Amino acid sequence: FGTQSVDEQGHLTIGGTSALTLAKNYGTPLYVYDTALIKERALAFIQTFEREHVKAQVAYASKAFSSIAMYQLAAEEGLSLDVVSGGELYTAIHAGFPVDRIHFHGNNKSDDELLFALNAGIGCIVVDNFYEIEQLKRLTENHNKQINILLRVTPGIEAHTHDYITTGQADSKFGFDLNNGQADKAFHAVRDEKFIRLLGMHCHIGSQIFDTVAFSLAAKKLIGKMLTWKTDFGFICPVLNLGGGFGIRYTEEDKPLQPAIYVEDMIRSIRSEIGEADYPMPEIWIEPGRSLVGDAGTTLYSIGSQKEVPGVRNYLAVDGGMSDNIRPALYQAKYDAAVANKMTAEATTTYTVAGKCCESGDKLIEDISLPSVEAGDILAVFCTGAYGYSMASNYNRLPRPAVVFVEEGSHRVVIKRETYEDLVRLDCSLQGETVGAH
Ligand code: LLP
Repeated sequence: FGTQSVDEQGHLTIGGTSALTLAKNYGTPLYVYDTALIKERALAFIQTFEREHVKAQVAYASKAFSSIAMYQLAAEEGLSLDVVSGGELYTAIHAGFPVDRIHFHGNNKSDDELLFALNAGIGCIVVDNFYEIEQLKRLTENHNKQINILLRVTPGIEAHTHDYITTGQADSKFGFDLNNGQADKAFHAVRDEKFIRLLGMHCHIGSQIFDTVAFSLAAKKLIGKMLTWKTDFGFICPVLNLGGGFGIRYTEEDKPLQPAIYVEDMIRSIRSEIGEADYPMPEIWIEPGRSLVGDAGTTLYSIGSQKEVPGVRNYLAVDGGMSDNIRPALYQAKYDAAVANKMTAEATTTYTVAGKCCESGDKLIEDISLPSVEAGDILAVFCTGAYGYSMASNYNRLPRPAVVFVEEGSHRVVIKRETYEDLVRLDCSLQGETVGAH
């Protein structure tokens, strides 16, 4: 993956630094991001639009991994940003991310969050439902603020990894249904609003998608609706946002496409749907999360105890688990791994990699073939860059690991390891003051 390699001692290197050095310097578990790979991915998306001469914004879906350093990196690489909460917005602003390139998502934004976004001068709010339209009308008017919006619609196309389904009506908590008049109703509710500027439509059809068919279908459906709004009401949408969901390779079984292929196909579908119609090519926005940071991330663990269930399996336990990577337990997600200090040794044993949480389901990988391991070996689990740290918890009061960025032989901490003091920082003692008791 990326700039990973094996040095003369048979040790894994990431971005030019030995995984063992990283584990020794920063401790384990440790999330390591190869920033060269993040930059390569960002550039691949951006340059494809440039090659096609299509105006675009590539917005990093920061729920995949958000931190001040990551937001700064995204800004430097010319990405825009998708945030989904006041907390992500706060972090992005704190990081100095250009606010006019931030898009705010969510199906239940609070008044406080919307006001925060309005006051900050956010680039765009992706409006999800009728309640939010009313919130925005009230807040923009009361505070005399202008706002750009997209309407999030559900086109009735859902992609699930290798498959997609099309339905007349999507059973989703997100967005206005495109097929039953809801999207039109939302359009009419905002098009003449003084403080609201409708830029166009948004849809997100799924995650970890491996082909271009579903994106094409969605693009065609949304363009079709945009053409109708022009014919019927003379309204032109300057923006079309097709969301994220581009797949990555977690294991050999996954066969994702290059970023360029997804983008080229999208553009082709849009152009063909517009066809001979007198309609300007909209600006295309996309929102990759996983495909920008997923395979750039590796988690390093120290191996500790082992247990043999004779004739069934060998467990090896690591010093993290579902607290730093919930995906195997939550989605039966599959991962690949290697023993960082035994990269050239022969794989002789089948192991199940268990975490240290008090829960039988805390297994990171089932049945992986590795060299024979012992306590103190370093296990590298690959492709943990998306929805790893961002979904990490303090379950069992495990401190969350540190995050390190590596590139061309240099390394730096971008999120510090939590300490035991951090774990009790928000706790209040029973001996403290009680308010409201008589
Ligand atoms: N845009 C919207 C509106 C989204 O809801 C999402 C992801 C994305 C973009 C980015 O999708 P990506 O390119 O990362 O696939 N926790 C799950 C993934 C949840 C995705 C939610 N929405 C996981 O660990 O697989």
